[in-house]
Amino acid sequence: MKTDKTLLMLMIMICMLLSTAWTQQSNKIYWKETDYPIIFGRNVTLFCNTSAVGTQKTTWMKQSDVILHQGLSFYPDKYTGQDVTDGSTLTIMNTTVTDFNISYTCLSDVHSYDNVLIINTTHFITIPQYTDIVWTVLDQKILVQINLKSVFPVPNCSVHINDIILLTIQQQSFHIQDLFYYGTLNITSRTQEKMCERNLTVVCDFGCSYTDVIATKVLQNCNVTNQMSNIHDFEHVWIIIGTFASVFFY
Ligand SMILES: *[C@@H]1O[C@H](CO)[C@@H](O)[C@H](O)[C@H]1NC(C)=O
Ligand SMILES: *[C@@H]1O[C@H](CO)[C@@H](O)[C@H](O)[C@H]1NC(C)=O
Ligand SMILES: *[C@@H]1O[C@H](CO)[C@@H](O)[C@H](O)[C@H]1NC(C)=O
Ligand SMILES: *[C@@H]1O[C@H](CO)[C@@H](O)[C@H](O)[C@H]1NC(C)=O
Ligand SMILES: *[C@@H]1O[C@H](CO)[C@@H](O)[C@H](O)[C@H]1NC(C)=O
Ligand SMILES: *[C@@H]1O[C@H](CO)[C@@H](O)[C@H](O)[C@H]1NC(C)=O
Ligand SMILES: *[C@@H]1O[C@H](CO)[C@@H](O)[C@H](O)[C@H]1NC(C)=O
Ligand SMILES: *[C@@H]1O[C@H](CO)[C@@H](O)[C@H](O)[C@H]1NC(C)=O
Ligand SMILES: *[C@@H]1O[C@H](CO)[C@@H](O)[C@H](O)[C@H]1NC(C)=O
Repeated sequence: MKTDKTLLMLMIMICMLLSTAWTQQSNKIYWKETDYPIIFGRNVTLFCNTSAVGTQKTTWMKQSDVILHQGLSFYPDKYTGQDVTDGSTLTIMNTTVTDFNISYTCLSDVHSYDNVLIINTTHFITIPQYTDIVWTVLDQKILVQINLKSVFPVPNCSVHINDIILLTIQQQSFHIQDLFYYGTLNITSRTQEKMCERNLTVVCDFGCSYTDVIATKVLQNCNVTNQMSNIHDFEHVWIIIGTFASVFFY
């Protein structure tokens, strides 16, 4: 495999030298990202359109390293790809910071196209790596305090009760570090009536193209809670404190 690859790289270098003159005039082939938004940590697929030179077999390179040749991956844990209509795809799996801001080249026949895979913040999303959630439910009022680590962009969240969206006020305090945001969201909502045996969820929009549920809470039967409240002498008041991890125990 090693010698095969060295030989292959030599051949590719020669082809690239020969094709340099061509590519500088016009790009007969080109690659682009296929799915938006790009979700950090998940797969990103690039598509090399080779229709202008016929659907030739394609080679993909990351900088000067051949990573995929005619559907054969040299790093199968990281890259896969296949021939599709009009060209060939490269899937970069479980993306990390080192997969971006770096050039990828697709080659087909004597043509090649290279470009840097950038993080375009218009299309880029990072689901928070860590969430810590404190729910406070007082009769008709719901307060949710959410600590988020490593998120992009700062999401807009609302509380849903079963499937109804409540009017929500969001206060936030965030700082950015290495492209990701860290900070706290305080979300406040009200309902018309006291809530019993309902499912509360916090649904967040990350930009305009991606939505995710980041917290859920199942409220108890009110009778049970009232009995407990009476014992503790706090009519109708109960405070539920949970972390993201402990949500699973409710
Ligand atoms: C990422 O790509 C691999 C290989 O094609 C696939 O098995 C996996 O399901 C993909 N993951 C996601 C989250 O789509
Ligand atoms: C490939 O490029 C050609 C010419 O630009 C275009 O007509 C065709 O639709 C593209 N194919 C795909 C799958 O995007
Ligand atoms: C990619 O991430 C998914 C989900 O986190 C994981 O199940 C999978 O094993 C990872 N794949 C590779 C090749 O690391
Ligand atoms: C990508 O490179 C540009 C220019 O070199 C730099 O400003 C930017 O911070 C880099 N982004 C990442 C995520 O490394
Ligand atoms: C990011 O994407 C938007 C929308 O497609 C585009 O207008 C903008 O030029 C892109 N930014 C960069 C730096 O490529
Ligand atoms: C969120 O609420 C907590 C507790 O009430 C408060 O200490 C914090 O300053 C609030 N943060 C924001 C961003 O409003
Ligand atoms: C709340 O969610 C749980 C599990 O998702 C479901 O079993 C239950 O029926 C839901 N309760 C209500 C009141 O919708
Ligand atoms: C959140 O909503 C505000 C106001 O509607 C908007 O300016 C902002 O772009 C939104 N942010 C996201 C991440 O959707
Ligand atoms: C709980 O309240 C419901 C009405 O909300 C009532 O039908 C039920 O009998 C009560 N259960 C107990 C154990 O008090």
